[in-house]
Amino acid sequence: MLVRVFEDMTPSPKPLHYSQTMKHLTQIIFALAGFACASLHAQKFDGLALTPPMGWNSWNKFQCDVDETIIRAMADAMATNGMKAAGYEYINIDDCWQGERDAQGFIQPDAVKFPSGIRALADYVHAKGLKLGIYSDVGYKTCGGRIASRGHEFQDAQTYASWGVDYLKFDWCNAEGLKAEGAYTTMRDALHAAGRPIVFSLCEWGNNQPWTWAKDVGHLWRTTTDIYPAFDGILDHTNWQQWSVLKIIDAQKPIREAAGPGHWNDPDMLEVGNGMSANEDRAHFSMWCMLAAPLISGNDLAHMKPAVLEILTNPDVLAVDRDALGVEGFVYSTNANVEIWFKPLAGGDWAMCALNRGQEAQRVSFDWKQEKVADTFSQRTADFSSIIYDVRNLWTQKDLGTTQAALAAEVPGHDVLLLRLTKKMN
Ligand code: GLA
Repeated sequence: MLVRVFEDMTPSPKPLHYSQTMKHLTQIIFALAGFACASLHAQKFDGLALTPPMGWNSWNKFQCDVDETIIRAMADAMATNGMKAAGYEYINIDDCWQGERDAQGFIQPDAVKFPSGIRALADYVHAKGLKLGIYSDVGYKTCGGRIASRGHEFQDAQTYASWGVDYLKFDWCNAEGLKAEGAYTTMRDALHAAGRPIVFSLCEWGNNQPWTWAKDVGHLWRTTTDIYPAFDGILDHTNWQQWSVLKIIDAQKPIREAAGPGHWNDPDMLEVGNGMSANEDRAHFSMWCMLAAPLISGNDLAHMKPAVLEILTNPDVLAVDRDALGVEGFVYSTNANVEIWFKPLAGGDWAMCALNRGQEAQRVSFDWKQEKVADTFSQRTADFSSIIYDVRNLWTQKDLGTTQAALAAEVPGHDVLLLRLTKKMN
């Protein structure tokens, strides 16, 4: 920051054109104001994302083909189809909304795709009781080649705040010469200096282990490369990869202790409704909930099948994700292709998920009274030999009796059995 200020203040050898002078002055003012404010209150906005953020983002379905008509249509859908009532609130524009910077360096939206401007879009989204998110990148250019925030962090943060933006996803393309922690801390300070509470979503793909340093920088941080709508496998683009649901789940196992209220591991946005089978969509969504993951839908909300909407809005399943304890699940046992996951929930409850990673159906037997679940991280235990729990299947929404009887079930391929265990009242 100081280096940039000194550079700007170096006397110019030839007279500057008026607009150049204005641009330099504006940058100095933003840099100084930003530096002063950031030094006084160097922190992220507290009290945001106390449960994992829920919303929608344009990238997984529309990539660069995003415009204000699509954003409005998604807000219309979310506000009326039950998603808002279920807890979804953010409508996030991803890459490719940006146009040029003006003479003073202020970023402008692409005039063809967003002719009404972002402020008008924020007003539209807010009027529906929802919130607006936007996207930028640490480099000079975004991943999609649009203008990004390097050297304009404080000015961009100020602009987003003035537009009424509520959420910023900040990407890691073209980060040459930058250190991740420093680059993201600069933007955190810029957002704080701008004064509007904005959820800060780090999209650094896990390259520099943000789970080890980002707790006080952002509210969520991507832990892996980009997802694609497949349950198993890797999509290799030679110089980068996209990962399937199972590959991403496996990468979360060692880092669960980093997450908690206000600071979440982000295993990437949802691919529910983007081409996987119904059981794969259900398993993907269940596991994101077991991982207390941000639930940012990525499908076309205006044209989705009722079965997809049912998955996205199942209240019992969402309650697992949004549980106030904010502790991620863990693998308790593995047998053949089936992993048994447990997640401690507030008030003494547990979620249990049997994940069938294989394509063939599997019989699952679980004699509760022979099992003792203990989580050293949350210091929670479930001793089924001494405590009886009621068992509820969260997808069928049927009560299955208690843990006094052994569980015997068949889990189809690439599917889950998702249960909630509640201490039985005597
Ligand atoms: C990166 C991110 C994606 C998306 C694109 C946009 O790949 O990881 O989620 O934002 O950039 O270009």
